[in-house]
Amino acid sequence: MHQPIGVFDSGYGGLTVLKEIRQRLPLYDFVYLGDNARAPYGTRSYETVYQYTRQCVRWFFANGCSLVILACNTASAKALRTIQQRELEQEYPGKRVLGVIRPTTEMVGNYSLTRHVGILATPGTVQSGSYPIEISKFFPDVKVFQEACPMWVPLIENNEHNSPGADYFISQCVERLLEKSPLIDTILLACTHYPLLMHKLQKLLPASVTLLPQGSIVAESLCNYLGRHPEIAANCSKNGSVRFYTTDSALTFNQQGSLFYGSEVSSAHVEL
Ligand code: DGL
Repeated sequence: MHQPIGVFDSGYGGLTVLKEIRQRLPLYDFVYLGDNARAPYGTRSYETVYQYTRQCVRWFFANGCSLVILACNTASAKALRTIQQRELEQEYPGKRVLGVIRPTTEMVGNYSLTRHVGILATPGTVQSGSYPIEISKFFPDVKVFQEACPMWVPLIENNEHNSPGADYFISQCVERLLEKSPLIDTILLACTHYPLLMHKLQKLLPASVTLLPQGSIVAESLCNYLGRHPEIAANCSKNGSVRFYTTDSALTFNQQGSLFYGSEVSSAHVEL
C-alpha cells in the first residue's frame, strides 16, 4: 500500500526541507503539497492559517499519509498545536503531524557562544512568539532577537530575489536585526524559503556569524523520530518515490519549484 510521508508548505519553501529529507531517507515515499494558490501565509491571521493548513492536512490523510511534516514555519507556529489537539486526538488518533519549530529550537542554542541568537522570519512567525518561547525551554540562557521580513517570501515566490530592488529589502532586515544586538553570533533562517538567500545573506554578514538554514536540522530530526517510533516508520511505504502537488498552476510550480528543490520537479494541480 502507498503510504508516503506528507510534506507541506504554503508554497515552494518546503521543497528546501524535502530535498534534505530525501537525502537522508532515500528509501521512503514522499508526497509534497504547496498551497501556492493561497500563499503567502506569513501575513494572514491565526484562524486563516489554521483553516488552510487543516484543509491541506486532511488532503494528505485522504491520500494515504499517516505522517505529515509542516515544512512551513508560519503553519507550524499558527496551526500545528490546534491541529494536534483538535483534529488528531479526536478524529485521527493514528496520524501524526510534526512541525519545523521544535526540532530547530532544540538545536539552535548549541551553535552560539555569545548566547545571543537572531531569528529572521515571516511577520506571522515573529508575532506568534514561538521561537523565543520554545528556545527559552531548551536554552534558558539564550537571548533571542527577532526581525520580521515581510517582503522576502513575496520576492522569492516571484523569483525577484536576485534583482537589484530586492537587495534593499534584504539588507534592511539584516541591518535591523544586527542593530538589536551586536553580540548576535548565530542567525536562524526561520522560514523555509530563505535558503535561497543564503549567498546574499552571507555577503551581508560578518564572517563570525553562523547562518543556519533549517532543512538539514529538520531532516536529521525526522530520521531520529522514525528511529524512536518504529511503529510509525513501519507504516510508511518505501519505494523511493516522490510526487508533487500544487493548488495553483502545475506549469509554474515546475518552473519555480526546481529552484528550491535543486532538481527537476514535475507536479500536478489539485483542488482542495
Ligand atoms: N515557507 C514558509 C515559512 O517557513 C513561508 C510562509 C509564508 O507563506 O509566508 O514560514
